[in-house]
Amino acid sequence: MAAPIPMTWTIRKWFWSRWQALRFSLAKPQKIGPPKSNQEEIRAVPLEDVHNTIPIQKVLVFDRLPDEIPTLGMRLLTRVGLFLDRVLPPMKAGLPEIDADVDEALHYGLTSGYLNAFRAPELPHIYDGVGKPELEDLAVQSPYSVFVERGGDGVLQWDFRVLGEFEHQEGLRSLGLRVLFSESIDTRRLTAVEIDSDEYGIVGRGDPDWEAARTLAVCAATTHMSLTRHFNYVHLISGNHWEIATRNYLPADHPLYRLVWPHIFNSLFTNYAITPVQLLPDGDFVNMFSFTHAGLMKYYDAMYERYNIAMTDPDADWERRGLADAKFDSPSQENLRDLFNLMHEHASRYVHAYYDSDQKLQKDTAITAWLEGLDALIPNGLNGALEGGVTRDGLARVIAAYIYEGNTIHDMAGTTLWDYQLWVDRNPTRLYRDGRRMPVDVLQRIINNNFALQIKRAPMLANYGQVAIDGKGAALFAEFYEDCKALQDRYDQTEAGPWRMEPKNLEISMNG
Ligand SMILES: [Fe+2]
Repeated sequence: MAAPIPMTWTIRKWFWSRWQALRFSLAKPQKIGPPKSNQEEIRAVPLEDVHNTIPIQKVLVFDRLPDEIPTLGMRLLTRVGLFLDRVLPPMKAGLPEIDADVDEALHYGLTSGYLNAFRAPELPHIYDGVGKPELEDLAVQSPYSVFVERGGDGVLQWDFRVLGEFEHQEGLRSLGLRVLFSESIDTRRLTAVEIDSDEYGIVGRGDPDWEAARTLAVCAATTHMSLTRHFNYVHLISGNHWEIATRNYLPADHPLYRLVWPHIFNSLFTNYAITPVQLLPDGDFVNMFSFTHAGLMKYYDAMYERYNIAMTDPDADWERRGLADAKFDSPSQENLRDLFNLMHEHASRYVHAYYDSDQKLQKDTAITAWLEGLDALIPNGLNGALEGGVTRDGLARVIAAYIYEGNTIHDMAGTTLWDYQLWVDRNPTRLYRDGRRMPVDVLQRIINNNFALQIKRAPMLANYGQVAIDGKGAALFAEFYEDCKALQDRYDQTEAGPWRMEPKNLEISMNG
């Protein structure tokens, strides 16, 4: 370290990692039993109406927590955490840069509390070596693969130009950029050929600024993954709105309530606990990433309004991204499809088991009200799923996409980043214009935040038949469990790195 780290901050660092480890050990997954009836309507209100120091206006959140959930412990823990954040702030201006050797920097930041409670990050193999990771590897075999799309000009791209429109902190590089890929029909591979950015202009492969622009592109990808794909889309949109609509419109003994219940369980409660910690003016996000708090607020509203539910279905998303005629291989996409198919077959079997015709489904007024409620709550709606009357196949697909968003995309966009975002030399969350490395408190915040995401949740590999209304439903949950195990058995035949989502590592939902 170039300059000494004040003892006062070292003590605070120790305290915060102990606090996180304590929360980790206290948070045991709760047993998911059948749902109880909702007592009072839950309304969707602008986020700023609930959290007055988080001026996000377009994002709608819940106005109250459901009555039946005992929240005293979590409310207290959350309040205590926010109080401690004020009296023992984890950030301190003027701290030295992290060690130039990222292993050393992580060795300092990854306290024994974290290593004992969880594990050290695993370096993805495509990050290993000089000039790594290559963007074309990330584009097909990493969490960031979901950003590949064909632009309006027909060119394959990662398009993060919109990120440049939101105010950045002084001295940090703008994330406004676009990466252009070419595809080879012969090798079925992509190649990153050009990066157009606010910072470096148009840079081609081999140009002097290529390495810097490449690292900036990874920074934009990881920022968008954490802030938008994870927290805005999985938590605030999918998590909140599915629980609000299901509680408001479906009776608790409705068979489809029971189908989605293991995935809905505790969504509002989870979001209640984590929203302020991350979005407050001195919260995690403003201290980890590049935006000012004002920029962050506007970015959240703008991305919320751009939401397209098609991205929660990997086949529809592939089409949405203009990749139907793609000539490149994408192991990540195959992996996502494998997992989606599990949820889709489960939802399809279940819906067909309780409705022997589409007409019968359409006569179920609770279902109609539920779907209309979802259509109204979710930004830009259910993507036409209701047009022409809902069908069993259409409904099964919508439900499968919701389940997949909560268990697969949540893991990919959140939990998995432990193995990506901690390698801040290769996968930075912010970059300084003058070339300095991030200070030690920023890295510590990145570690603390990513560690908090590792909280133990109910596993995917379990039988949730206890929530069913009858033996038929219980058997269907058991079949889903068997299918998940079968995919895991297949995956066990081949080794893959952290990029591959596997049932044994997945949770049943985003909720703690
Ligand atoms: Fe999450």
